[in-house]
Amino acid sequence: MPGTQLNSVQTAALSAGIDLDALPTHVAIIMDGNGRWAKSRGLARLLGHREGYKTLRSVLLNASELGIKYLTVYAFSAENWRRPKDEVDGLMALIERAARDELRVMHRNNVKVRVAGRMDDVPTSLRNALEDGIQTTQHNTGIVFTLAVNYGGRAEIVDAIRDIVATGTEPEDVTEELVAAHLYNPDIPDPDLMIRTAGEMRWSNFLIWQAAYAELFVTDVSWPEFGLKQLLSGVAAFQHRTRKFGGLTE
Ligand code: FPP
Repeated sequence: MPGTQLNSVQTAALSAGIDLDALPTHVAIIMDGNGRWAKSRGLARLLGHREGYKTLRSVLLNASELGIKYLTVYAFSAENWRRPKDEVDGLMALIERAARDELRVMHRNNVKVRVAGRMDDVPTSLRNALEDGIQTTQHNTGIVFTLAVNYGGRAEIVDAIRDIVATGTEPEDVTEELVAAHLYNPDIPDPDLMIRTAGEMRWSNFLIWQAAYAELFVTDVSWPEFGLKQLLSGVAAFQHRTRKFGGLTE
């Protein structure tokens, strides 16, 4: 990018060998390992989530400065309700606090907030905080930051099918494009890069439709310890992959 003033994150990216003109457009993150991080330090699991919140705050700003256009994070899965009530309540409270406390900073940084998930089943106060964030930042033009809350990939596909069936669509008119158009955020492009922390090699029902061709980057680092270095490693790994989308390379 000759002639452009680079910020510190972009400078670090260049030093890490990253091509700033070939960044993934949409990065999705499975923020795993908060519990293990806490346990290994003899701390309560919720302290791990609290630390994870701090990580998320800095990763969002780093991704934005780097020039990523869309960031989606798995904050609470549809399956996380199975955890002990204390942890569920603590996570809900933490996400709500984050949504409220970070709104001003996100707005100042031109972040556009979105959500993905079955919002009807999310506690009213959290839903209100998220809706407030979406409303306040709706005209922002910077990074689109999607919080997946009460999100399940299969549930999302089921919800899309329900919508399609309700319109009386004929079976032969059901196409991939039609299904995609009925997902929670049809205007957001599919993720190019899916990052998972804490070493597990699974999708865990996250964006299973949209991530069909995403490059997967798994790091052993737990989410509370994830930082710019790991984000750049993920982007660098992405840039070294050859994306074929089922076809052949030239
Ligand atoms: C996975 O760690 C993480 C979660 C289930 C929740 C992610 C939540 C945060 C990062 C907290 C803050 C979020 C927001 C949006 C402010 P785990 O508990 O599954 O870890 P483990 O596998 O080591 O037990």
